[in-house]
Amino acid sequence: MSKNASDTPAPNAQLTDKALNKRVNALLAKMTLEEKVGQLVQFSSGTPTGPGTGRESYDAMIADGEVGSLLNVADPKKANAFQHIAMEKSRLHIPLMFGLDVIHGYKTIFPVPLGLASSFDPALVQQTARMAAQEASADGIRWVFSPMVDIARDARWGRIIEGSGESPFLGAAMARAYVHGYQGTSLSNPDSVAACVKHFAAYGAVIAGRDYNAVDMSDLTLRQVYLPPYQAAVDAGATTVMSSFNSLNSVPATADPYTLTDILRKEWNFDGLVVSDWNAVGELIGHGVALNNTTAAQKAIVAGLDMDMESGAYHERLAALVRTGAVPESTIDEAVRRVLRVKFALGIFDHPYVDENAKPYQPTPEKRALARKAAEESIVLLQNNAGEGQPKLLPLTAHVRTIALIGPLADSQYEMLGSWGAQGNPADAITLRAALEQRVQAHGGKVIYAEGTRILTASQAGFDAAKQAAQQADVVVMALGEDAPTMTGEAGSRAHLDLPGNQQQLLQAIVATGKPVVLVVFSGRPLVLDWASEHVPAILEAWYPGMEAGAALANILFGDTNPSAKLPVSFPRAVGQEPLYLAQFPTGRPATGVDLSHPPTNGVEKYVSRYIDVPNSPLYPFGHGLSYTQFDYSPVTLSATSIPLAKLMNTPNQGTTQPAIEATTTVRNTGAVTGTEIVQLYIRIRGASVEEPVRVLEGFQRVTLQPGESKQVTFPLGFSELSFINARSQRVVEPVDYTVFIGGSSQATGSAVFHVVP
Ligand code: BGC
Repeated sequence: MSKNASDTPAPNAQLTDKALNKRVNALLAKMTLEEKVGQLVQFSSGTPTGPGTGRESYDAMIADGEVGSLLNVADPKKANAFQHIAMEKSRLHIPLMFGLDVIHGYKTIFPVPLGLASSFDPALVQQTARMAAQEASADGIRWVFSPMVDIARDARWGRIIEGSGESPFLGAAMARAYVHGYQGTSLSNPDSVAACVKHFAAYGAVIAGRDYNAVDMSDLTLRQVYLPPYQAAVDAGATTVMSSFNSLNSVPATADPYTLTDILRKEWNFDGLVVSDWNAVGELIGHGVALNNTTAAQKAIVAGLDMDMESGAYHERLAALVRTGAVPESTIDEAVRRVLRVKFALGIFDHPYVDENAKPYQPTPEKRALARKAAEESIVLLQNNAGEGQPKLLPLTAHVRTIALIGPLADSQYEMLGSWGAQGNPADAITLRAALEQRVQAHGGKVIYAEGTRILTASQAGFDAAKQAAQQADVVVMALGEDAPTMTGEAGSRAHLDLPGNQQQLLQAIVATGKPVVLVVFSGRPLVLDWASEHVPAILEAWYPGMEAGAALANILFGDTNPSAKLPVSFPRAVGQEPLYLAQFPTGRPATGVDLSHPPTNGVEKYVSRYIDVPNSPLYPFGHGLSYTQFDYSPVTLSATSIPLAKLMNTPNQGTTQPAIEATTTVRNTGAVTGTEIVQLYIRIRGASVEEPVRVLEGFQRVTLQPGESKQVTFPLGFSELSFINARSQRVVEPVDYTVFIGGSSQATGSAVFHVVP
């Protein structure tokens, strides 16, 4: 049952259109077996995004109808050249569909997805996806391999950067936003692109955060935590899905009938196409479930995998598998229908070519404005302390005349774009150095820049110059962090989560000068910032902010923009806490009320669920993020103290669609500047048939308030927010107790209790 019982049960409505399906079937009837298989084959032309296959020319294959889609073509001339072959030389003139990893912008590069998630602003994310769709489609790309909606709770996993973090609720909201942005009002609009929800399923839970590793989890956790964002994307109309590299409970996702057919097709009524991940059909051999490409292709197609990205197994073996009777032709027909439906829905049969002479891309003020807004909304103020009797360090004020800017990420345009920079041009990116220099010099001040060290080096050759720069300055801004291409994203898992290279030593050396330091962290994941949290007054988590990085950061540093972002993922104190996330189970021996700040000394403190050497809590919790103002919350009130179960469940199997109760608070800006607060609602369930997490995000709203202004914020709660998965994998509500917490982070203290009664 859908978590959003209110969603109409007609996902991908454009694909079920009668006239469209008539065209699909008419074409299918004309196709030879080889032509059918051709539609299920995708190859990469251009820069490979995985282990290469050595193939270079596809012209002859396209002319023979052996290729249905190409990825990594990002040039309108090349796209048209391939398309001319398909349309003019292939027997049935079936157009190719061009796909690309457009992840956080195409040419206008926005913050990386984990940064965008920190905005808690789905409307903004939808706008970024819309702009990406317009730019990509102008180059002939009508299919983007996004959104990546894998819930990720282990910061060691490099791909945590590509998604929306640890919360299914936030993840689902972002998933819908991306899909609506990419696909627009109709897929057939020339500037709409098909979204591809990936990586299905549960890729974010790879054991120990090691990329491509196995996933082993209960069906309850799969359905409670990992599936909701994929389902939200499908319900929002996503027309394609990408299967994941991992195995799930010992079955590789590429050939898993449970996820690909039972859940996706039968439970969620998905009518679009499923593409494998890069070379993943062939990798069924590596997984050990296939002995060769023949069994690999057979297992994948029978499980429900429609298109083979890059491995060549379908291309080589599928027709023979049908001829020998190992795969029914009806299975191939169904997969081909799914591919053709998407192509017809996109309108590429009628408009196969792209305008090669369109105006070349310009990072116009309008594009920069959206990129800057997105960056400003994604940068999280982790802490902002004051020295003894001093005001808070941020925002910097006009009396700061000289700034020392230190660190290997202060002046790298390339790094600002983050991983999966698509067609972003590093030359369009504004670094922190460029922005600070411009701004400070305009006010008669000075920026002394010193790189200090490289991201990954043992050499301390630059330390002295950096220390000298610090000594001459009123304040030091340090730009430290990870190397985006090698340390984040795919194949970027790390066992250590500290600042790489000798950046930690550089930080300590600069702090030792006694100058006030603002640390700006650029990273694709939560890092362990325990030392910094104790010794550095102000810390900003910038992620990789995209093309307007420096401009956005300068606005925040000087207080022109008041930060509003909140963490979509928990920051650990030590790597050994990973996977670390808010929605943990309470256990029978919870450590609540126990002083965890020192090693256990007596029975009470020892025999509880804890580490002996580090507190259980995160350094910075989920939902945390400071502002330059303060917000005050009135006590939480509820529209009822008990609700009859019948208001939430129609029958034992069906949730109701109307909200059953409302939770309300009044938020007031008690500080001196205007600010935006992300008001968050969490619930805890007690007394259910299954153990429920200590807190789960089930609502958020952005509220902008002038100093002194207050606003009442109400959250309607119904089946969607209050239901959970029981031990029989059903989404239900039971007669249980709910505690509702509302506040500005997951540590919100304001709460109220209500009961669901039989
Ligand atoms: C990644 C996918 C990506 C695909 C195509 C794979 O290696 O896992 O996320 O969409 O390559 O580039």
